[in-house]
Amino acid sequence: MRKPIIAGNWKMHKTLGEAELFYADVQGRIPDPAQVETVICAPFPFLFRLVQLSEGKAPSVGAQNMHEEESGAFTGEVSPTQLKDLGVGYVIIGHSERREYFNETDESVNRKIKSALGHGLTPIVCVGETLEEREDSRTEAKVSGQVKAAYSGIPAKEAERTVVAYEPIWAIGTGKTATSEEAGEVCRSIRKTLEELYGTEAAGRIRIQYGGSVKPDNIAELLAQPDIDGALVGGASLDPESFLRLAEAAVHE
Ligand code: 13P
Repeated sequence: MRKPIIAGNWKMHKTLGEAELFYADVQGRIPDPAQVETVICAPFPFLFRLVQLSEGKAPSVGAQNMHEEESGAFTGEVSPTQLKDLGVGYVIIGHSERREYFNETDESVNRKIKSALGHGLTPIVCVGETLEEREDSRTEAKVSGQVKAAYSGIPAKEAERTVVAYEPIWAIGTGKTATSEEAGEVCRSIRKTLEELYGTEAAGRIRIQYGGSVKPDNIAELLAQPDIDGALVGGASLDPESFLRLAEAAVHE
């Protein structure tokens, strides 16, 4: 039985004051962590304060990116050692916005996942197709290629600690959601790729999220798909009431 995981990706939103208000608002109201794992992936400057505020309780705190090296002359970057030192537990790797605007490649994504795992962080590994690829019926080939590249050289025991986020690029921030059947089908194909890599048992332990215009009103039908184990949510994670509703929906699935 895979525990659902609802992660908010705040992207480049909020001030520190707004982030603190969000935490104050949701504190003590998040559903039982034994039933649903909740994470807020916040901008770097807020991480230290949010870890302090969370006091080890839900929602956990995650980063939206990291460099693969522990330290060095990499101006503007943040290392896994630094994240771990703050008490951050999760990190989004290879979000399509990073692949598109910051030149992240399958190879850098692979190196970052290995580094995150090596430092005890849980990577949330993003994959997804463009609209053009979907219209050309290349969705499964694209996503399966991304998964194979991302997990290259990563043993099953380590892979089990990761989370995959399937985010069709055309559904991000557009209000267009993949239908739950479409999303479920691609997540099933991701599980199949993981089965090829790791066997049924290990692949059955890896959680797969859907992301792309997830809202409190559509999350239940997405989570009802057998291979969707949670959601990676942008816009609808910014408001405390909305985030709480998303987390509650996961308990009821
Ligand atoms: P939206 O939920 O705003 O579409 O963003 C999805 C996303 O990119 C989460 O990582």
